[in-house]
Formats: sequence, structure tokens, C-alpha cells
Amino acid sequence: MGKTLGREELKAKRDKYMVPGMKHLYAEPPHFVKGQGQFLYDDKGEEYLDMFAGIVTVSVGHCNPKVLEATVNQLQTLQHTSTIFMTQPMVDLAEKLAEITPGNLSKSYITNSGTEANEAAISMARIATGRHEVIVLKHSYHGQSHLATSMTSNHNYRQGTMPASGIAFAENAYCYRCPFKKTPDNCSMECAKDVERVIQTQTSGAPAVMIAEPIQGVGGAICPPDGYFQAVKKILDNYGVLFIADEVQTGFGRTGNHMFGISNWDVQPDMMTMAKGLGNGLPIGACIVTPQISDKAQKAVINTFGGNPVSSATGLAVINTIIEDKLMENAKVVGDYLIEGLKELQKSYPIMQDIRGKGLMLGVEIADPETKAQMPAECAKIVEIAKEHKVVIGKGGLWGNTIRIKPPMTITKQDVDRCLAAMRKGLEAVSKVGAPA
Ligand SMILES: Cc1ncc(COP(=O)(O)O)c(C=O)c1O
Repeated sequence: MGKTLGREELKAKRDKYMVPGMKHLYAEPPHFVKGQGQFLYDDKGEEYLDMFAGIVTVSVGHCNPKVLEATVNQLQTLQHTSTIFMTQPMVDLAEKLAEITPGNLSKSYITNSGTEANEAAISMARIATGRHEVIVLKHSYHGQSHLATSMTSNHNYRQGTMPASGIAFAENAYCYRCPFKKTPDNCSMECAKDVERVIQTQTSGAPAVMIAEPIQGVGGAICPPDGYFQAVKKILDNYGVLFIADEVQTGFGRTGNHMFGISNWDVQPDMMTMAKGLGNGLPIGACIVTPQISDKAQKAVINTFGGNPVSSATGLAVINTIIEDKLMENAKVVGDYLIEGLKELQKSYPIMQDIRGKGLMLGVEIADPETKAQMPAECAKIVEIAKEHKVVIGKGGLWGNTIRIKPPMTITKQDVDRCLAAMRKGLEAVSKVGAPA
């Protein structure tokens, strides 16, 4: 790397050399040069509180010393052989994944990303069932390969090229904008029943698998009500359809009560995919399945970098750090404190229409209090103003009107107060009568 460039210079260079589809979150993006714990530092040495963790990835804090030690030790010892040779870190990681995932999930395939983990899972489900079709939920995000974008129900992340075949979309459990116009008082779990309707009307009646995020991440922290996943699993079992929990965002303690998001609803998936928080920033993903499924997929698979010693040693150190430092417990305590703070803020700013999620996987949907009209411009402005007050928060949702708060799980209540103060500044600005969007 050459000399550290100033913000404007770097922006111009990025525009010149990177593909145009690679967008910035901010209109005025800072140049981050360093990360430590839950903080980022720009080229001028300004500190920012990172409440988005590099899109829900830096689970145990930037440059976590315990994880760094494992990574650097491994880098200095053995970096790469590929999976056709025998090395220990990948196997140690697989053993740990079998230990912390629920039920009989015990056979791992380690990948480089969440997209790849989902590709592997769908492929294995098809091989194991001898079926082809896939059910996904509306507003889902499952990655950026051909198959994964085809399973992504959000036009913002689909390129308009010919999608993969055999993918059917069921309504998601989006209570704030219930697709069946129900309210919590008269909810009859139509969204769960929709899975059966989709099987009957959009597939051959015998799809291979359904994949779902326990809490939709890119979709804007859309969190299903109790009973939803239990009802869906029953329907899938009736039709012999496998269930993949995509834990790429919800995994590794982020939702507070459980190591994996789906366990919040006591549902046992047949397969699970994960990535992001497992590597704390190093590229890694994994697909874990039951032996009954993996036994049916005996043909050779190869992955040059998947399961490499450095990412594997890092993944193991991340999991151990989450357990030893009780970060899941912290996600619950600090997450609950954050929800309380958001609800308090909501009293002054009713455009914070829906506060949702679990642990440190939270979303705030910004919409008109009377009409529920989405307010993406205001949402973007709140995010931008929070950054001016040195707090990084994310945004997402189908309409880009949901603030996403998914920080490193090391944050404290003091950090939450700082985040809320910065959000208040943004909310104040967009709530002024006649404020430009
Ligand atoms: C739920 C979910 N699945 C899969 C992916 C794809 O992961 P990756 O970007 O590592 O390929 C993402 C990424 O945001 C995700 O949020």
C-alpha cells in the first residue's frame, strides 16, 4: 500500500478503479484506517462508534486481541494446503460447530462466504432429496451468486439477468406490514399457512428445501412472531421438505438468548448456514447438516480456500471468545437496554414506527405515523447525521427505510447511550417542519 490518502482523494481513486455497482453507504463517506474494539478511526484520527460491525460481521470487536493471536500464529505457521491435504484447524472448527449447533447437525462443509455456504446447502439438499425446487421468503437476502440472487427477494440486489429456475416465494412474517392485513390481535398465522399454499400452487408439490433467515437481516430485522417457524416446520415435514436456517446474520449469539437465531423458536433445522460473525472479518462461511443428509452426498467436493487453516483457526478463536467473554449474554443485556432506549426515543419521534429484532440484531422502520408510507430519504439522513456525530449505523429493508443496528457484541450501555444521542440528532433534523428530506 502507498501513502494513506485523504478522504476526497481516496473517493476519486475508488470511483476510477472499482466497478460502479460498489456503492457507499454515505453521501460523504469517511476514510477508515483503523479499528479497535467497537470503534473505528478515520484518516484524521477521529473516533467513530461502530454500531453496524462491517455489516454484522465484526462480532467480537475490531482487531480482538485473542482472535488476532490465533490468526497471526496460524499465519506464521501454515497458511494453505487446500482440503485435499490433512490439516487440523478446519477439523477443530468443524468439531466446535457440531458442539454449538442444535440437535444432530454435525457434518460441516467450510466455505469462504455466506453465499457459498448457501450454494452448498441447496446443492446438498437437492442431492439428499432427489428434488429440485426451493422455497424462500419474500424480502429475503441470501447472497450474490446466480442461485443466491435468485433466492433473494429484493430487487435492489437482483441484476435483472435470467434467474435460476425452481424458486418459489412465500409471504414473510412481517407483522408491521402484515401481507394479510391482520393485526397481532386477530393473527391467524396466515404467513405460515402461505408456505403450504406456495407448495401447492408454485411447485410440483415436492420441493427439496426451504431456506429462511430466522430474522431477516438485509430485509430490515424482520422478526417473526412466536409460533411462526414451528408452524412452518410442521408443514415442511408433512411434505418431506428440508429446512435450512440461514444464520449468516443471526448466528453466534447475536440474538442474545441462543447461539443461533432459529433456537429462539425451538425449531430444529435440517441444515444451517453461517458466515459473517464467524470470521470477525476474515472470509469464512460454513454449511452444517445432519449425517443422514451428508451421507447421501458422497461425490467429491473441493474448495481451494474453504477450510483454510488461517480462517479456520480464526473462526474457532471467535467462537471461543464469544463463549469465554460471555458476549451472547452481553448481547441480551445491552440489546434489551438498547430496545428500551429506542422505545423512549420513539415517544418523541413517532416516525420510528416499528422497533424490532432480538439481542443486538435490531431494526427501526422509519415511516409516516398515519399512513405508514415508507420514509427512505429521512432514514438515509438520520444515518448520515449519526455519522456526523461519529456513530455508524446501517440501513436496509426493501424500501431502504429501516435503520439497522447490529454492532460488535462487545458494546456497553455507555455505547448505547452515545448511539441514541446521535440518532436523536438525526431524528430531530428530519422531524423539523419543512425539513428537506
Ligand atoms: C442472511 C444472509 N445470507 C447470506 C449472505 C451472503 O453472505 P456473503 O456476503 O458472505 O456472501 C448474507 C450477506 O449479507 C446474509 O445477510
